[in-house]
Amino acid sequence: MFVKRLSVLKDILPDLFTLNKTICFINPQDLTDLDYFSNKNTVVLTDDIRLYSPLSDAGYNCKSDVNFLTDVSIILLPKSKELAKELILLGSTIANKGYVVIDGDKNDGIVSIIKELQKKISFEVNLSKAHGKIAVYRTASGNLPSTWHPNKFNKINNEFVTLSGVFSSDHVDPGSKLLKDQLPQNLNGSGADFGAGWGFLTNFLENLELVDNIFAIDTSKRALECAVKNCNTSKVEFVWDDVQQWRAPKPLDFVVMNPPFHSNGKVDIELGEGFIISAAKNLLRNGKLYMVSNRHLPYENILCRYFGNSKEIGGDNRFKIFLAEKPLAVSRKKT
Ligand SMILES: C[S@@+](CC[C@H](N)C(=O)[O-])C[C@H]1O[C@@H](n2cnc3c(N)ncnc32)[C@H](O)[C@@H]1O
Repeated sequence: MFVKRLSVLKDILPDLFTLNKTICFINPQDLTDLDYFSNKNTVVLTDDIRLYSPLSDAGYNCKSDVNFLTDVSIILLPKSKELAKELILLGSTIANKGYVVIDGDKNDGIVSIIKELQKKISFEVNLSKAHGKIAVYRTASGNLPSTWHPNKFNKINNEFVTLSGVFSSDHVDPGSKLLKDQLPQNLNGSGADFGAGWGFLTNFLENLELVDNIFAIDTSKRALECAVKNCNTSKVEFVWDDVQQWRAPKPLDFVVMNPPFHSNGKVDIELGEGFIISAAKNLLRNGKLYMVSNRHLPYENILCRYFGNSKEIGGDNRFKIFLAEKPLAVSRKKT
């Protein structure tokens, strides 16, 4: 846990985070990660709107892109190795002549990243605590491995582009593919792709003749950046928001989704439930929800609570596809 490791680091290097130093905090996982850092001298780099909005409201200078220099970069490493390397490269570039702090859980692969870095640079601090590691180096102490690359788009099937760190970045998710194959060709009107990711389902929807417009909603700006490249028509509106908070400008004819069921690396069924509740709130009375989930996930009860009709309409041994109709949460008329 970052805050526990941070408290040890502060004892070892008490001058690292003094107020006269500028800090760039890259990829915080939790609002509390910023507790120790003043909004006066800390820039926060995050592509997650659930952190970006509240931290901006709390007075932090939040960005989803970089065009500045800093004295200290702090990077909380993501699970994706490629993205971890990309963020370290970024943090080292902007902390020119300064310090870089990297922190992560052992389960997310920080040990092998540090081993690779140690061949090229020398660390001032490298300590283990709370099932993870925190390490500090000066950018002047060496060069990063030449095989590490900045942000670059990958190709899937020569058809779609993705970036490392986004959901299913090197293949089409089999659950989403199954859902796509089950969607009726005559879907029509106004709809949304909840948790659109890099846009696989949105791309399918935008090509249906009777579909007028689609909201592609995701908390990850990085994923939406890919979705913009993967969608080709003006039917799509990209929305950087939390599906659970989002309200459609007008009630929708359909919602399509492959909801997430992890938060910060842990199983979180309530997140998927929040998606279902939001679908019920955003749909017209005769609107339809099409959803795929892993077969073991228990969404049936929540579907029954928020929809008059819900049934499994397909799937295989790994996934199940639901159609839910007659949303009960609210009744709205098309305007
Ligand atoms: C299982 S993935 C599906 C992605 C995409 N629909 C596909 O089929 O490849 C779930 C997506 O939901 C996004 N997500 C997670 N929590 C969210 C939230 N509260 N609001 C909006 N999107 C969210 C994730 O960033 C991820 O892209």
